[in-house]
Amino acid sequence: MPLGEGFPALRSTPLLILGIETSCDETGVALYDTETGLLADVLHSQVMLHAAYGGVVPELASRDHVRRLLPLLKGALEQSGRRIDEVGLIAFTQGPGLGGALLVGASVAAGIGLALPCPVVGIHHLEGHLLSPLLAEPRPAFPFVALLVSGGHTQLMRVDGVGRYALLGETLDDAAGEAFDKTATVLGLDYPGGPALARLAEHGNAERHHFPRPMLSSADLDFSFSGLKTAVLTRVRELGSLDERARADIAASFQAAIVDVLAAKCMAALEREGLDRLVVAGGVGANASLRERLERATRERGSEVFFPPARLCTDNGAMIAFAAALKHREGEHAADGFPIYPRWDLASAARGPQSTP
Ligand code: KG4
Ligand code: ZN
Repeated sequence: MPLGEGFPALRSTPLLILGIETSCDETGVALYDTETGLLADVLHSQVMLHAAYGGVVPELASRDHVRRLLPLLKGALEQSGRRIDEVGLIAFTQGPGLGGALLVGASVAAGIGLALPCPVVGIHHLEGHLLSPLLAEPRPAFPFVALLVSGGHTQLMRVDGVGRYALLGETLDDAAGEAFDKTATVLGLDYPGGPALARLAEHGNAERHHFPRPMLSSADLDFSFSGLKTAVLTRVRELGSLDERARADIAASFQAAIVDVLAAKCMAALEREGLDRLVVAGGVGANASLRERLERATRERGSEVFFPPARLCTDNGAMIAFAAALKHREGEHAADGFPIYPRWDLASAARGPQSTP
């Protein structure tokens, strides 16, 4: 029997939603009440687990999700002061992500769903990121342009409503977060290097090196970051041994290049779509330099930019529970079984369950 069958009345009643995120290297569990808002949001980051390998080891990630998920759920229930049998809907990240990691969240969600019983819905990870700025005040109104910048994705989308997304442009190679992480590795910083590179850049001279701004003046809204990463690598090899100052200058110059491109494309997207609101989501959205630049550029244009609080920028269960709350309001159906989609584009997710891969 499909997990959601027999629960039609939930749509109009207040609902406690359990959100579970296990797509990559963070285990996130949250409880969201459709009447009172976010009640609990707990997270375990596997950063230390993977650091020794310089990147995420999928099998270790899955095993750690198995270990962490139920204790985190217990913690979330304690934080919220609610009981598990009060949960009326369970939302889990269905994709994209690491297959084994996704399966952990999906099977725990399905298991609890059967035991309670209550319906279970699969959420697209990027949709979670995309809608997360609506969890904070001030809330952006639809329609808006969204910049999704994470470790795996760099996309500009037009968002006309929940489930109404149009892809405007995306990276042709590396994601922005990936470029940050790979450049950080070149500079000898520990994985994941994005935040560490940003900290190093604070003390550097961004004018010291002029790195390429790939596709800055291309007529489209696409990105390319692999050439920028190679340019940094070439410069580091030319310079030989680097002291702290030299590394900080490279970090600042790299960050300036990537921020220039991201900001220029965001502004071009607003212009092209005739919109005045920009929403930034995904891990790289925590970057202070990107935030400053977009705040300035949108102010000068008479537009607005919305960022989720830094805590919500990286992977978390709150955005999954919240996306489920919004989709539920729109009448979205519950999952049939618990399939996962490790490779899944948001446009096909938005077209509905029949067009999922
Ligand atoms: O959205 P996210 O938590 O995970 C997914 O990729 O889905 O994004 C993680 C990415 C990593 O590449 C990380 O280095 C980057 O976001 N990141 C940052 C900053 N904080 C996180 N990049 C630049 N500056 C930051 N402050
Ligand atoms: Zn993410």
